[in-house]
Amino acid sequence: MMKIGVLPTDSFIDPNGKNVKEVKILIDAVINLVVNYASNSGDHPPLSPECKTKLFNEFSSDGIPTEELLLQLETIFKHSMNPLNPGYMGHMDSIPTLISCLSEFVTTVLNNNMLSLEMSPVFSKMEIQVLQQFTQMFGLGKNAGGVITSGGSLANLQALAVARNSILQVKENGLTSLTKQPVILVSEASHTSLHKAAMLLGLGTSSVIPVKSNPNSQMDTTDLETKITTLIQEGKQPFAVVATAGTTVTGSIDPLYCLYQK
Ligand SMILES: Cc1ncc(COP(=O)(O)O)c(C=O)c1O
Repeated sequence: MMKIGVLPTDSFIDPNGKNVKEVKILIDAVINLVVNYASNSGDHPPLSPECKTKLFNEFSSDGIPTEELLLQLETIFKHSMNPLNPGYMGHMDSIPTLISCLSEFVTTVLNNNMLSLEMSPVFSKMEIQVLQQFTQMFGLGKNAGGVITSGGSLANLQALAVARNSILQVKENGLTSLTKQPVILVSEASHTSLHKAAMLLGLGTSSVIPVKSNPNSQMDTTDLETKITTLIQEGKQPFAVVATAGTTVTGSIDPLYCLYQK
């Protein structure tokens, strides 16, 4: 059991306000360091030179004094990739907005678990509302929705699991009940996480069929139609077409609306 009494006084924010002073000192110290670093990040290159020596000694399970913690934070800043430098260009890992940095802090303080409405009465509803607004922007119809995931790999896995279960009806009996091999069509510029998802879903990586892309790395919808017809003639069952809004290498957007209408 955790011995609260032996922990530093700023380990938690005391619910009765007993350590407001200590808490603010630590928060101020970290915020000062962050603001100072970020405000001078133009002086640090986007990619830090590789550090050949060990950055940290063994991590202490007893905790470390604030001064040492701040020194370690400086090391982290100094040796990390620096997206704040004006010379940094990243179409995927962009410069974070200040409000997103602060939001991370607020949501971590609340630590609501979105597994149920009871555990997350605000964010679970917010998720539905945000996704409805997004789906409307994409013209996906009033009943469209989604789930916020931690990243692209999980989003692809989740979406393909839904497609597999709803189109192939395999939720209870599994893939062995199928007579035709199920296949997914993806653009040849799509991300490798789709192959991983196919593998995890028991479809196998050979179920991922590449569709040609045009010189702008967008899915060629004529090749898509040809491939679907050929696959059906071969006795396979195409059950999902995965379009990408922002391909990994060039940031290209597949003709989403055209695919949705088809
Ligand atoms: C188009 C695309 N999809 C999926 C992913 C996987 O995302 P994550 O690394 O968040 O799992 C990436 C990552 O680069 C990507 O570029």
